[in-house]
Amino acid sequence: MSRFSRSKIIPLSGLLFTLSLLAGCQRSDSTGSSSASASVNVSTPVALGELIFHDASLSASGKQSCASCHSPEHAHAQPNALPVQLGGPGLDQFGTRAVPSIRYLAATPAFAVNEEGTPSGGFNHDGSAETLAAQAERPLLAANEMANLTRAAVVDKLRRAEYAPAFRKIYGDKSLDDVEVAFAKLSDALERYQLEAPEFHPFDSKYDAYLAGKATLSDAEMRGLKVFNDEKRGNCAACHPSAKREDGGSPLFTDFTYDALGVARNKAIPANADPAHVDLGLCKSGRSGRAAEPSECGKFKVPTLRNVATRKVFFHNGQVTSLRDAVAFYVSRDTHPEKWYPTVKGKVQKFDDLPSSYHRNVNVDEVPYHRKRGERPALSEQEIDDVVAFLRTLDDGYSAPRNTK
Ligand code: HEC
Ligand code: HEC
Repeated sequence: MSRFSRSKIIPLSGLLFTLSLLAGCQRSDSTGSSSASASVNVSTPVALGELIFHDASLSASGKQSCASCHSPEHAHAQPNALPVQLGGPGLDQFGTRAVPSIRYLAATPAFAVNEEGTPSGGFNHDGSAETLAAQAERPLLAANEMANLTRAAVVDKLRRAEYAPAFRKIYGDKSLDDVEVAFAKLSDALERYQLEAPEFHPFDSKYDAYLAGKATLSDAEMRGLKVFNDEKRGNCAACHPSAKREDGGSPLFTDFTYDALGVARNKAIPANADPAHVDLGLCKSGRSGRAAEPSECGKFKVPTLRNVATRKVFFHNGQVTSLRDAVAFYVSRDTHPEKWYPTVKGKVQKFDDLPSSYHRNVNVDEVPYHRKRGERPALSEQEIDDVVAFLRTLDDGYSAPRNTK
């Protein structure tokens, strides 16, 4: 498989990060009930989108907002170590996938399949939402998330929100009258908030400072960066590019493609108690106009690695619970599979989260997956530690140490 074809997909249109928009807009509590009253005077879609994002009154439980699962204090990802979150009217329905960070999505292209047949772009672990605006519908309606029964139920709640007058001012007097119009405007506000609010793409990690010549990486971080980029050792940058983008933009650590890693089945997900429950990722994403493609089963989106060190669960099913293990998985999945998969009657159940007919979709060709059982892993223990040290430089909010002299 050519990694080359992965990375030539994204001519970026200039993105406007409208810095002034949030000035004067109150930060609201992520789990409290509607906190709109303090700032109903908003006048832009972005500021309105922020209120909607934090508004728990839009959920059937009245207690869950987008921010409950995409916590601003946790790089807009889940705030806890659960493999999947709880939602629904009684907040007792389990999800089936780990919550991704929703930072740095502004440059993600819409879902598309290129001339070579390679799918890329789109949202969710399986690309099931073509655009960010389309993505908003699932959490609002999913029975195990905000659990509204219909779009009309969402709009009904919207009409009662304290920011409803502001909504009408921004999107037109009649914008809340018709369900489809109102839902489209709500999706627009959420999308514009995520695209334009600076908090979703601060680009202020230590690595960003390093790229700008304003910080020095430690020896371990620098060694880790080299391993990460080295095609013969980590080869991580093949899917998680670390260099400036073609348009000069800062690296996003994802090439927006999909791949099958064969992560082990997570028994901590309640849905997995049923052996018939399998998460096939990309091939079952149900996008209209696209038939299920067996060669795509088991593939999931390459996530950004920015802020990855703030996570407590890793990969689409949250099966791995430390960053070091996530890195170690790559290098010893094939050399020491017994470390990662259960053994039944003396046989290691490799790729046990996928039906055997799809095992051939799992990537076993590229570095660092190219080794055989019993061989030396592609990276030493020290190199794994170094890669982890490097990944920690990707957390937002780095402030340079004060010069003490
Ligand atoms: C109960 C937890 C929960 C709530 C509430 C929730 N999300 Fe999510 N979000 C998730 C999970 C889990 C995924 C991954 C879904 C998948 O892959 O099928 C996700 C995925 C996303 C993505 C796609 C990220 C990517 O990398 O492609 C976006 C964007 C997003 N959510 C925005 C929102 C917005 C906006 C709201 C509020 C309207 C919201 N979410 C509410 C759990 C939640
Ligand atoms: C062939 C493409 C490919 C290569 C090479 C690759 N990754 Fe990944 N990476 C992925 C995909 C796809 C996922 C998501 C898998 C899933 O959710 O099941 C992922 C997920 C991750 C995650 C979990 C992120 C999260 O939010 O849960 C980490 C950490 C990670 N990769 C680090 C690395 C490191 C370190 C290397 C090099 C040793 C590497 N990756 C090499 C494709 C790749």
